[in-house]
Amino acid sequence: MIGQTQYFRDTWAEIDLDALYQNVKTIRDGLPRETKLFAAVKANAYGHGDFQIAKEALKAGAHGLVVALLDEALVLRQKGIKAPILVLGLIRPADAGVAARHHISVPVVQLEWLKEAGRTMGAGVPPLKIHVKCDTGMGRIGLKHEEELKEIEQFIKQTDEFEFEGIFTHFSTADQASEKYYQGQLAAFKKFVSVLETVPKYVHAANSAGALCHNDSFFNAVRVGIAIYGLSASQERPPLNKGKQVFSLHSKIVHVKKIRPGECIGYGAAYQAEKEEWIATIPVGYADGWLRKLEGQSVIAGGERAEIVGRICMDQTMVRLPHYMPIGTQVTLIGGQGTGDFITVEEIAEKLDTINYEVICMINFRVPRFYKRGSKLIEVENPLFRGV
Ligand SMILES: Cc1ncc(COP(=O)(O)O)c(C=O)c1O
Repeated sequence: MIGQTQYFRDTWAEIDLDALYQNVKTIRDGLPRETKLFAAVKANAYGHGDFQIAKEALKAGAHGLVVALLDEALVLRQKGIKAPILVLGLIRPADAGVAARHHISVPVVQLEWLKEAGRTMGAGVPPLKIHVKCDTGMGRIGLKHEEELKEIEQFIKQTDEFEFEGIFTHFSTADQASEKYYQGQLAAFKKFVSVLETVPKYVHAANSAGALCHNDSFFNAVRVGIAIYGLSASQERPPLNKGKQVFSLHSKIVHVKKIRPGECIGYGAAYQAEKEEWIATIPVGYADGWLRKLEGQSVIAGGERAEIVGRICMDQTMVRLPHYMPIGTQVTLIGGQGTGDFITVEEIAEKLDTINYEVICMINFRVPRFYKRGSKLIEVENPLFRGV
């Protein structure tokens, strides 16, 4: 029987668990002792693999986890993660009982939501842990007035269905050089906290950029994502994070040929050779998240830079080699091959005119993840075979 630990293609992502461990530990050690670190493992841990990253982050000193969806939290619980998990996105009141039963904390932005959730939760369920989300300037989700917060606090005091576990906000400009908007959000959040009769267990605001460059943003917990993956939390405040990149993407040459001057490569015959050239084909394409816009980007083939030529196809990409290389030669699209040259996630983001977050999230489930400690492969996950 073929299973989730097998793979049959020569394209894979490597997840460096030592780097993850070290990044989490370094960030943890840089925070005050009483500040709890919640590792952001939403979106399959930014494409790295939620379960493996969650386990490693907790081992390295993270106190809890944050995810975007109730589904993501439930998957982690079902795989045996016992640490605190907070869902960041709003859940339906009708699903409050599921969250409560699995000891998953959820955000609340409206008294009405609590009333409806209370009506549907049913008997014999443990109290639902809620974190009130305050909108201090992000304009996404959150209550906007202190009066609403006071009403929620009073309501919870009169019921048994809920536990007021946390209060939080989210900064929209903590990564920017200018402090003004950030300071406005910080002041607004402090005002929210100040109207509470009882301050809950967790008070949190900072993301990576907050935790790494605003030491007035810690309160007693932080939610750190991008920095634990060894990626830059800010374009404007470098060098914020000296972490090691956890994610790398590799493939192998599956076909190689010499072409003559004037011969064309790929759809639309968009690339034409000017002289004799060695062209290699690698089995990765836009259906893996390796987008067509990456035409012209370089890769590292057998330790040397080589340019992607012609249009990137759904499942295959062509590369112009500096000289002949045999089938089976490793090609690195993100990361390095130990030669000193290294393709950062940020290099790819710049080529795509986007942010590093989007690059790691876009390499999708078709690409098996190899989890490594040192040079040792400890686990392979091929979600194509999940449930087979
Ligand atoms: C509410 C919230 N908190 C924390 C994070 C983690 O942010 P970062 O990856 O910048 O550390 C995110 C990420 O988008 C978020 O939406």
